[in-house]
Amino acid sequence: VGFVLAACGSEESGGGSESADGVQETTIKFSHVVAENTPKHQGALAMKEYIEAESDGKITVEIYPNSSLFGDQDEYQNLVSNNVQFIAPDLSKFVGNNPQFNVPSLPFLFDNDDEAIAFWDGEKGTEILGSLEADGVLGLKMWPNGGKHVTNNERAITSPADFKGLKFRTQGGQVLEAVYSTLGAGSESIPFSELYTALDQGVVDGQENTFSNIESKKFDEVQEFMTIMNHTRVDYAIFTNTEFWEGMNEETKAIVEAGVEEGTKVAREEALTLNEKALELIKERGEIEITELTPEQVEEFKTALEPIYEEFEEEIGADVYEAAREAAG
Ligand code: LMR
Repeated sequence: VGFVLAACGSEESGGGSESADGVQETTIKFSHVVAENTPKHQGALAMKEYIEAESDGKITVEIYPNSSLFGDQDEYQNLVSNNVQFIAPDLSKFVGNNPQFNVPSLPFLFDNDDEAIAFWDGEKGTEILGSLEADGVLGLKMWPNGGKHVTNNERAITSPADFKGLKFRTQGGQVLEAVYSTLGAGSESIPFSELYTALDQGVVDGQENTFSNIESKKFDEVQEFMTIMNHTRVDYAIFTNTEFWEGMNEETKAIVEAGVEEGTKVAREEALTLNEKALELIKERGEIEITELTPEQVEEFKTALEPIYEEFEEEIGADVYEAAREAAG
């Protein structure tokens, strides 16, 4: 029986192999929105190298960084349509599909990557990653980026009151919106690819992101103040198209699956180091004034944002809260 991978069909891929035995010749596309010196791209690169080497070049993995193939707004739909076989979006971009993807936006929940990984690898996390099944999308493994920090053009932020009247860009979602409204600030969701210009033109006063994203997209060029907050996170998961995934023969799938594992390992190993390096680079460039909060100031923010938990308990679920708190230790 002839066998054609759903991902095939482009001329250069040579179509699927004729037999169900052996590694199928195919081209796989991986699209993402961030720069190349980031945890997500390094994970994707490790995955590509592994798959191409292990398949003796029969499988080609094309990575499209910087929203060069699809951006925030259309990458999911194109995964559903199998125009791209892998994406690794910030989980907070899926809150429209399932409000439980708001977990990375819950204030001061996870202190570090390990805690976030423990949650997403656990039972509840796995359940949430699997919740896009009806769209023909499979959530495979969580890839961390890191804690987010706040930048803006108005003032050095040291207390909740400093947020009053400012407008921030967020990745989107009900919880991030509530974080800013609780602090008396406005918020707007803007695609990542449009963020630099939005900051430059003053469409918003500020934004929150990881050091890695701030540095690699040079947001410090168009922002005057940064407060190290670590109040929310950017965490990704690698998602694939179910039909593509199930359509691979055993040998092909074994290599691709091991490639995903390899990418996951590298993304998890590199995230903290890349973010630390990014902070050093931001300091060296000296474009932005950096504020570190005292433990007392951090407590003030924790207290101010605490009501968010009650507000979203019903929507996100007490069971999810419990699993997250357990992972946070
Ligand atoms: C953002 O939109 O700021 C980030 O979620 C981008 C990313 O994928 O890290």
